[in-house]
Amino acid sequence: MCGIVGYVGSVVPSSRPQDVVLEGLGRLEYRGYDSAGIALVRPGAGHVEVAKKSGKLINLREELAAHPSADATAAIGHTRWATHGRPSDVNAHPHQALDGKLAVIHNGIIENFFKLRTELAAQGIVFTSETDTEVAAHLLGQEFLATGDLTQAMRSVAQRLEGTFTLLAVHADQPDTVVGARHDSPLVVGLGNGENFLGSDVSAFISHTREALELGQDEIVTITPNSVEVINFAGEPVELNRYTVDWDAAAAEKGGYWSFMAKEIDDQPQAVADTLLGRVDENGDLILDDLRIDESVLRAIDKIIVVACGTAAYAGHVAKYAIEHWCRIPVEVELAHEFRYRDPIVTTRTLVVAISQSGETMDTLMAVRHAQEQGAKVIAIVNTHGSTIPREADAVLYTHAGPEIAVASTKAFVSQITATYLLGLYFAQLRGNMFRDEIQKMLAELREMPGKIREVLERAGRVKEIAHWMADTSSVLFLGRHTGFPIALEGALKLKELAYIHAEGFAAGELKHGPIALIEPGLPVFVIVPSPRGRGLLHSKVISNIQEIRARGARTLVIAEDGDTAVEAFADEVFWVPQAPTLLSPLLNVVPLQIFAAELARAKGLDVDQPRNLAKSVTVE
Ligand code: M6R
Repeated sequence: MCGIVGYVGSVVPSSRPQDVVLEGLGRLEYRGYDSAGIALVRPGAGHVEVAKKSGKLINLREELAAHPSADATAAIGHTRWATHGRPSDVNAHPHQALDGKLAVIHNGIIENFFKLRTELAAQGIVFTSETDTEVAAHLLGQEFLATGDLTQAMRSVAQRLEGTFTLLAVHADQPDTVVGARHDSPLVVGLGNGENFLGSDVSAFISHTREALELGQDEIVTITPNSVEVINFAGEPVELNRYTVDWDAAAAEKGGYWSFMAKEIDDQPQAVADTLLGRVDENGDLILDDLRIDESVLRAIDKIIVVACGTAAYAGHVAKYAIEHWCRIPVEVELAHEFRYRDPIVTTRTLVVAISQSGETMDTLMAVRHAQEQGAKVIAIVNTHGSTIPREADAVLYTHAGPEIAVASTKAFVSQITATYLLGLYFAQLRGNMFRDEIQKMLAELREMPGKIREVLERAGRVKEIAHWMADTSSVLFLGRHTGFPIALEGALKLKELAYIHAEGFAAGELKHGPIALIEPGLPVFVIVPSPRGRGLLHSKVISNIQEIRARGARTLVIAEDGDTAVEAFADEVFWVPQAPTLLSPLLNVVPLQIFAAELARAKGLDVDQPRNLAKSVTVE
């Protein structure tokens, strides 16, 4: 959702603040937005110059080209994903106060905005937009008049606001300062030389610096060209937590691919390999250094609850099969937004595993807090360093997928699954559920998976062809059993979000309990067939399901492993994947479905990286 960039510096050329902020907004486009704006502070100008336009960033660029401004020393920029007030030029950020001397941008929702707006209106303040943000701008204006200090003014305002917010502000009288506040919404600091940066995430400034500072909950940061100061909402100084980003600008670029998603699908072997890297010691035992939870606590766990949303939740479903099988611990998988509001049974012996690519999904964050309030320990499986969920969790297992820019999750998904395998095998090692050689054998199989994913990618020609032929399809079903079930759900989600096609995933066994009524001649149905080398019964049940739908005229598109000759007779099309252990097979089976969805959307001429209505990081509940 909304993207935020801040810059202050005295570095040549004089167009740098504008250039840096526009470039940063471009890199944050992936978060999803409907309008964009910028505020520039020029020493001596007496007011902050603001440009804002609804629609894509190009509209803002054109506006700025028509009204050029130079010699600014500070700038803030924003991409807006509408919550309060429709997408329009007027509702776009920045919002101004004090007759244009002060400008504010905001990510989040101010829940008490109506009360505050009524109070301000009663004092004679005239609002020009429908947004909650404008309330924060006028409050900040009032506090600035009272204190003459932007940082202190921000602190007072932050204490009055309810809801979620990252706020950035600039004032015409302080042309070398940008102030930010962070409460339940992301904000990171980039450290430069004679210049400093703020961003919703590090991609906002990654082409300028990889040195960053994490900001904690309820903190206020003040940046000038040569200083960064952080205090908490109580006004106390805060210790700075500096880190170096382990990827560079090239990792967040398309690198010649037709879309970020196509690149990220191809990045998957590396994402899995990197997530496995450094997690085994010289004796072949798993070491999960990041797990700061006492081993005695982990040994005593009697239940695991995975909380996550969307694709991350499907990674959790895959984890359930593996962890229950390896560790004999019951695993529940809950959509984070359902978990929090249903009074779940959580005790001190419950381990909650929160899975999130962004580490900022508000529903998942709220579930983490709820679990901790009930006394549970929380392990976060997260891709984005410095994000909120790993900061608040008791321990973190980072996935190393690199930046995922396309809204539809692909490489994060396979690396999340990989991390849950590591977690499951680690528990099995710790609790003695598996023999050492069994664990090492499974780890060896896991290390083979990047190469096998690469093979699936190399065989993708046919699935691409079929996706292009099927561009006018209006409905597709996906069926799977066991670990194939969450992959069926994920295949359907990918198709819905990218190609806007009605798609449903079902457990194949559920077919006869209702969904079979949907089958009509010509309906395309993807079926994920389990390995015949696994539980043979499972395999033959799925073959029966294929026959049932084929008998009713469905067009069967089957994903099966090499050598499974039994499927060929019943499939209109088979997409072969290399042989792998049943529990690891999701890492392979999902790949043709990702490619199918991306290529079909491409054939329809849709924006694969930024599908309509979606935001990459859902930072409001
Ligand atoms: O950042 P997160 O992993 O917490 O995001 C969770 C979901 O919003 C995300 O997986 C979403 O479902 C994707 N659009 C799926 O492609």
